[in-house]
Amino acid sequence: MSIHTKASPGGQPESAAPRRILFVCLGNICRSPAAEIIFNAVLEAHGRRAAFEVDSCGMGAWHVGQKPDARMLAALQRHGYRWGGHRARQFRRADFADFDLIIPQDASNREDILALARSAEERARVQPMSRWFLPDCRFTEVPDPYWDGERGFDTVVELLEEACTRLAEDLLG
Ligand code: 4NP
Repeated sequence: MSIHTKASPGGQPESAAPRRILFVCLGNICRSPAAEIIFNAVLEAHGRRAAFEVDSCGMGAWHVGQKPDARMLAALQRHGYRWGGHRARQFRRADFADFDLIIPQDASNREDILALARSAEERARVQPMSRWFLPDCRFTEVPDPYWDGERGFDTVVELLEEACTRLAEDLLG
Protein backbone atom coordinates (compact mmCIF):
# COMPACT_ATOMS: atom_id res chain seq x y z
CA MET A 1 0.00 0.00 0.00
CA SER A 2 1.31 3.40 -0.91
CA ILE A 3 0.96 6.25 1.58
CA HIS A 4 0.48 8.51 -1.44
CA THR A 5 -2.80 6.93 -2.44
CA LYS A 6 -6.13 7.41 -0.76
CA ALA A 7 -9.68 6.75 -1.83
CA SER A 8 -11.58 9.72 -3.17
CA PRO A 9 -15.29 10.15 -2.33
CA GLY A 10 -16.09 8.66 -5.74
CA GLY A 11 -14.16 5.52 -4.90
CA GLN A 12 -11.34 6.12 -7.38
CA PRO A 13 -7.85 6.30 -5.89
CA GLU A 14 -6.45 9.79 -6.05
CA SER A 15 -2.80 10.64 -5.63
CA ALA A 16 -2.21 12.96 -2.70
CA ALA A 17 0.99 13.06 -0.71
CA PRO A 18 0.28 13.33 3.02
CA ARG A 19 0.86 16.87 4.24
CA ARG A 20 -0.55 16.79 7.79
CA ILE A 21 1.72 14.62 9.91
CA LEU A 22 1.14 13.61 13.54
CA PHE A 23 3.82 11.85 15.62
CA VAL A 24 2.51 9.89 18.61
CA CYS A 25 4.17 8.34 21.67
CA LEU A 26 3.06 7.60 25.22
CA GLY A 27 3.70 10.79 27.18
CA ASN A 28 4.38 13.36 24.40
CA ILE A 29 7.38 14.64 26.33
CA CYS A 30 10.23 12.54 24.86
CA ARG A 31 9.97 10.71 21.52
CA SER A 32 7.11 12.33 19.59
CA PRO A 33 8.02 15.97 20.36
CA ALA A 34 11.58 15.09 19.32
CA ALA A 35 10.25 13.59 16.07
CA GLU A 36 8.21 16.77 15.47
CA ILE A 37 11.28 19.00 16.02
CA ILE A 38 13.59 16.86 13.89
CA PHE A 39 11.08 16.37 11.05
CA ASN A 40 10.45 20.14 10.94
CA ALA A 41 14.22 20.70 10.73
CA VAL A 42 14.50 18.21 7.85
CA LEU A 43 11.64 19.94 6.02
CA GLU A 44 13.31 23.30 6.66
CA ALA A 45 16.54 21.99 5.14
CA HIS A 46 14.54 21.02 2.03
CA GLY A 47 12.87 24.46 1.97
CA ARG A 48 9.47 22.76 2.36
CA ARG A 49 8.44 23.42 5.93
CA ALA A 50 5.52 25.67 4.97
CA ALA A 51 3.97 22.89 2.88
CA PHE A 52 3.41 20.67 5.93
CA GLU A 53 1.48 20.77 9.18
CA VAL A 54 3.42 18.81 11.80
CA ASP A 55 2.26 18.04 15.35
CA SER A 56 2.78 15.48 18.09
CA CYS A 57 0.76 14.03 20.95
CA GLY A 58 0.71 11.24 23.52
CA MET A 59 -1.68 8.41 24.27
CA GLY A 60 -1.53 9.20 28.01
CA ALA A 61 -2.66 12.37 29.78
CA TRP A 62 -0.09 12.50 32.62
CA HIS A 63 2.05 15.24 31.07
CA VAL A 64 -0.57 17.35 29.25
CA GLY A 65 0.53 21.00 29.10
CA GLN A 66 4.17 20.23 29.90
CA LYS A 67 7.29 21.09 27.92
CA PRO A 68 9.35 18.16 26.61
CA ASP A 69 11.43 16.30 29.22
CA ALA A 70 14.57 18.30 30.12
CA ARG A 71 16.76 15.29 29.24
CA MET A 72 15.23 15.16 25.74
CA LEU A 73 15.67 18.91 25.26
CA ALA A 74 19.32 18.55 26.30
CA ALA A 75 19.87 15.68 23.82
CA LEU A 76 18.19 17.68 21.06
CA GLN A 77 20.38 20.66 21.87
CA ARG A 78 23.51 18.47 21.73
CA HIS A 79 22.46 17.55 18.18
CA GLY A 80 21.75 21.15 17.14
CA TYR A 81 17.95 21.34 17.52
CA ARG A 82 15.79 23.82 19.40
CA TRP A 83 12.39 23.36 21.01
CA GLY A 84 9.66 25.16 19.04
CA GLY A 85 7.23 25.70 21.94
CA HIS A 86 5.18 22.49 21.76
CA ARG A 87 3.30 21.51 24.93
CA ALA A 88 2.16 17.95 25.53
CA ARG A 89 -1.35 17.03 24.52
CA GLN A 90 -3.29 13.79 24.41
CA PHE A 91 -4.34 11.97 21.24
CA ARG A 92 -8.00 12.63 20.37
CA ARG A 93 -10.36 10.94 17.92
CA ALA A 94 -10.51 14.11 15.80
CA ASP A 95 -6.84 13.49 14.94
CA PHE A 96 -7.99 10.82 12.48
CA ALA A 97 -9.70 13.54 10.45
CA ASP A 98 -7.15 16.27 11.10
CA PHE A 99 -4.03 14.35 9.97
CA ASP A 100 -3.17 12.39 6.81
CA LEU A 101 -0.43 10.36 8.46
CA ILE A 102 -0.40 9.29 12.11
CA ILE A 103 2.98 7.87 13.14
CA PRO A 104 3.21 5.89 16.40
CA GLN A 105 6.70 5.57 17.82
CA ASP A 106 6.31 2.05 19.20
CA ALA A 107 4.11 -1.03 18.85
CA SER A 108 2.13 -0.25 21.98
CA ASN A 109 1.25 3.26 20.77
CA ARG A 110 0.21 1.75 17.43
CA GLU A 111 -2.10 -0.80 19.06
CA ASP A 112 -3.68 1.91 21.23
CA ILE A 113 -4.36 4.17 18.22
CA LEU A 114 -5.70 1.33 16.07
CA ALA A 115 -8.10 0.40 18.89
CA LEU A 116 -9.68 3.86 18.45
CA ALA A 117 -9.89 3.71 14.62
CA ARG A 118 -13.38 3.20 13.20
CA SER A 119 -12.70 2.48 9.54
CA ALA A 120 -10.15 0.95 7.20
CA GLU A 121 -9.39 4.47 5.99
CA GLU A 122 -8.54 5.61 9.55
CA ARG A 123 -6.42 2.49 10.13
CA ALA A 124 -4.54 3.14 6.86
CA ARG A 125 -3.43 6.53 8.17
CA VAL A 126 -1.52 4.85 11.01
CA GLN A 127 2.02 3.93 9.93
CA PRO A 128 4.77 2.97 12.40
CA MET A 129 7.89 5.13 12.65
CA SER A 130 9.90 1.94 12.07
CA ARG A 131 8.64 1.96 8.49
CA TRP A 132 11.31 4.61 7.84
CA PHE A 133 14.19 2.94 9.73
CA LEU A 134 17.21 1.87 7.69
CA PRO A 135 16.96 -1.80 6.58
CA ASP A 136 19.84 -2.85 8.87
CA CYS A 137 18.55 -0.90 11.89
CA ARG A 138 18.99 -2.71 15.23
CA PHE A 139 15.64 -1.36 16.48
CA THR A 140 12.12 -2.42 15.52
CA GLU A 141 10.52 0.61 17.22
CA VAL A 142 11.62 3.88 18.83
CA PRO A 143 12.66 2.76 22.33
CA ASP A 144 11.14 4.58 25.30
CA PRO A 145 14.02 6.54 26.89
CA TYR A 146 12.01 7.79 29.89
CA TRP A 147 13.50 5.36 32.42
CA ASP A 148 16.93 5.38 30.75
CA GLY A 149 20.13 7.35 31.19
CA GLU A 150 21.29 10.25 29.04
CA ARG A 151 22.65 7.96 26.33
CA GLY A 152 19.15 6.59 25.65
CA PHE A 153 18.00 10.08 24.69
CA ASP A 154 20.91 10.53 22.27
CA THR A 155 20.09 7.14 20.73
CA VAL A 156 16.47 8.24 20.18
CA VAL A 157 17.56 11.51 18.55
CA GLU A 158 19.92 9.68 16.19
CA LEU A 159 17.29 7.06 15.30
CA LEU A 160 14.72 9.80 14.64
CA GLU A 161 17.18 11.72 12.46
CA GLU A 162 17.52 8.68 10.20
CA ALA A 163 13.79 7.97 10.15
CA CYS A 164 12.73 11.59 9.60
CA THR A 165 15.21 11.95 6.74
CA ARG A 166 13.73 8.87 5.04
CA LEU A 167 10.17 9.98 5.78
CA ALA A 168 10.85 13.36 4.17
CA GLU A 169 12.40 11.68 1.11
CA ASP A 170 9.30 9.50 0.87
CA LEU A 171 6.87 12.44 1.12
CA LEU A 172 8.82 14.93 -0.96
CA GLY A 173 9.49 12.42 -3.74
P1 4NP B 1 7.45 9.39 25.65
O1 4NP B 1 8.17 8.92 27.02
O2 4NP B 1 6.28 8.45 25.46
O3 4NP B 1 8.51 9.20 24.63
O4 4NP B 1 7.02 10.83 25.88
C1 4NP B 1 7.48 8.73 28.22
C2 4NP B 1 7.13 9.83 28.98
C3 4NP B 1 6.47 9.65 30.19
C4 4NP B 1 6.18 8.37 30.62
C5 4NP B 1 6.51 7.27 29.85
C6 4NP B 1 7.17 7.45 28.65
N1 4NP B 1 5.51 8.18 31.89
O5 4NP B 1 5.34 7.03 32.28
O6 4NP B 1 5.14 9.18 32.52
